[in-house]
Amino acid sequence: MSQTLDGMRDLARRALANAHAPYSRFRVGACLRAESGRLHAGCNVENAAYPVGQCAEATAIGAMVAAGDRRIVEVVLLTEGAEPCSPCGRCRQQLAEFARPDTRIHLCGPEGVRVSTTLGALLPLAFGPGTLPRFDP
Ligand code: THU
Repeated sequence: MSQTLDGMRDLARRALANAHAPYSRFRVGACLRAESGRLHAGCNVENAAYPVGQCAEATAIGAMVAAGDRRIVEVVLLTEGAEPCSPCGRCRQQLAEFARPDTRIHLCGPEGVRVSTTLGALLPLAFGPGTLPRFDP
């Protein structure tokens, strides 16, 4: 496994440890590698008003944007359950704003990578910034 992926898993692990998930007890950590090489991590942040909760990917995207990065080139999602956890539909769309169809997404458990896939496989025929007629990067 590459050093970068190890580093991403480590940051996702640290974020997961800080997850605020008292309602689901399902902790999630995410780490994004930006085109700049910088890594941005996030965890899920639940709320007593359940629908207000935020996914780990959204937290990581917010940290990335606040730090000035805009392009995601690799994603790690870390959970502790028995099954690989895939990004929810909303997160797939949020990732599509900043990533390309070939961006690799690693679904990890505590022991390591369980599934490696791409955003394009998870969100085919995506509606993205390029779909809009007045898109100007
Ligand atoms: N969750 C994430 O953080 N990311 C996903 O892609 C799927 C779900 C969180 C939301 C909630 O806090 C908990 O997992 C259970 O749904």
